Amino acid sequence: MAAERTLAMATCTAPVNIAVIKYWGKRDTDLILPINSSLSVTLHQDQLRTTTTAAASRDFTEDRLWLNGKEADVGHPRVQACLREVRRLARKRRGGGEDAAVLSLSYKIHIASENNFPTAAGLASSAAGYACLVSALARLYGLEEELSEVARRGSGSACRSMFGGFVQWQRGERPDGTDSLALQVAPETHWPELRVLILVVSGEKKPVGSTAGMQTSVETSPLLKHRAEVVVPERLAQMMQHIQERDFEGFGQLAMRDSNQFHATCLDTFPPIFYLTDVSRHIIALAHRYNAHHGHTKVAYTFDAGPNAV
Ligand code: DP6
Repeated sequence: MAAERTLAMATCTAPVNIAVIKYWGKRDTDLILPINSSLSVTLHQDQLRTTTTAAASRDFTEDRLWLNGKEADVGHPRVQACLREVRRLARKRRGGGEDAAVLSLSYKIHIASENNFPTAAGLASSAAGYACLVSALARLYGLEEELSEVARRGSGSACRSMFGGFVQWQRGERPDGTDSLALQVAPETHWPELRVLILVVSGEKKPVGSTAGMQTSVETSPLLKHRAEVVVPERLAQMMQHIQERDFEGFGQLAMRDSNQFHATCLDTFPPIFYLTDVSRHIIALAHRYNAHHGHTKVAYTFDAGPNAV
């Protein structure tokens, strides 16, 4: 007879991703379904990464979570959604029955997660964080399937951190979100000359979080509606082609335009949201002057929901 497993532990790391065609706005806030598809570049884990350990034990009396060494609310709806979905998939895989040789799904779990960079400063910490949480839980329960749909339940952009290289998050059409998934467009080896620099303008927590900000934008910005319906579908096709052809001129120009349009939708939101600072704007101006000096696009910038330049 197989011995009962009373303790198990799994550790994973996950990368940050930076969107070059931005996600901003949900059509379903509970399932985290976006109003438009998006496309990102996954960064190397050498400098920026989340590390998460998940442990399950017969001796744990409650689920617990620590973020950067401090206990956090494990009851957060998004953490709970990820936990529930991973356990549901594990149950499905086991065909409903309990096997003493595998880890019991009734055991409570402890999760400890750490970022080696500023959290919630617009550096995609939630993306790496939830991608890592889902990967660690999946490893703990021995799941091998593609889990971007589960990571999406933690944070929309997290689904893209489940892959390396160039990644598209497909908007999907179905109301249940089963087709709102991430997929790799090209591996990182496709374009090894591409370099990503992060200029940390501020490590402070952003004044308006993405989740709340994008919802106000959906409710009040006519520009965002036009962007999602008309602009993004065209840009997505163009961006895929620039990546395929390793055309930095096209890639860089479009990334800058898309970042600028995202921040324009923030300004079009009412009341307006400001993520860029004077320093951010100086960086934008510098990039354009640098490119003008060289006569072509040598550098490009993109800014998420914060002042830091990528
Ligand atoms: C500006 O994924 O953080 O970085 O789904 O509500 O968790 P939630 O939002 P989040 O939004 C990211 C917005 C963005 C653009 C992007 O990454 O595509």
